[in-house]
Amino acid sequence: IQRSFSSSVVRNVVIKNVTIIGGGQMGAGIAQVAASTGHSVTLVDMTDDILKKAMKGIQSSLRRVVKKKFSDDPESGDDFIQKVMQNVSTNTNPAAAVTSSDLVVEAIVENMKIKQDLFGFLDKMAPEHTIFASNTSSLPISDMASATSRPDRCGGLHFFNPVPMMKLVEVVATSSTRGRFRSLNPCLVCPGHTWVHQRCVSVCHGSKEDIDIGMKLGAGYPMGPFELSDYVGLDTIKFITDGWREKEPDNPLFAPSDLLNKLVSEGKLGKKSLQGFYKYSK
Ligand code: NAI
Repeated sequence: IQRSFSSSVVRNVVIKNVTIIGGGQMGAGIAQVAASTGHSVTLVDMTDDILKKAMKGIQSSLRRVVKKKFSDDPESGDDFIQKVMQNVSTNTNPAAAVTSSDLVVEAIVENMKIKQDLFGFLDKMAPEHTIFASNTSSLPISDMASATSRPDRCGGLHFFNPVPMMKLVEVVATSSTRGRFRSLNPCLVCPGHTWVHQRCVSVCHGSKEDIDIGMKLGAGYPMGPFELSDYVGLDTIKFITDGWREKEPDNPLFAPSDLLNKLVSEGKLGKKSLQGFYKYSK
């Protein structure tokens, strides 16, 4: 996944100026990633002290990146840090910070009323083309979007912690934006956004490929759940889950899977039979 915002196109808007609201652990990380990919970033928080701390955090995080990436060329590493830091400015006034923004990413406290107030306020201050995104982990984007006059330009950009390390970004669409987020490839587009902590197969509407990529990049798994099931053997997986169900028949997590039963009954047992969720060659 390439986390360059400039590949995102909505109504052919090229993202150059990014405003991040909230300079806590997520906002600072998002600012670092956006600035490292050449964007002009304005980081907003409530006090200069918080912003100073955020900038310090970004600088030390960049030092760690550089130590690895430029281990044999420390001078270029220093140049890189300088360039990235030059791409970030700070502001305690959100109204001023969004006047020339192409994309606003909200990473403030996880509270719907406060997020709605912020979106409603910024809606009056930002140019018409500006896209509003929330990094929320749990709150409905459409409720935030309803506080604005631009629900078709509001979406979710859900980063994973620690942002500079994690390569996954979930893009959350709503009924007002569907079909309008283009060129996000190879980013995951997933209508739900809490599946990492849940039973991904049942709550995410993405394809098995999306889920496997998501679990590898977002949760650091060496194999995604579908790949792993094929590797283990789908007959074995069925034995395991049937056993769990016998012990806890009312637990919805262990409800029978029609797809798994079908594959097993067709002899598609995973890698060992060259077909399971995926096809394999010898
Ligand atoms: P945090 O508490 O570290 O940072 C929040 C920052 O927002 C604070 O610096 C605070 O001063 C600032 N803030 C609060 N209200 C503000 C306002 N009205 N205007 C400007 N700044 C304001 O929180 P964190 O962990 O960075 O989370 C932020 C958002 O990201 C939340 O919505 C959270 O659910 C989401 N998130 C958090 C993850 C995590 O692992 N911590 C992972 C993915 C998403």
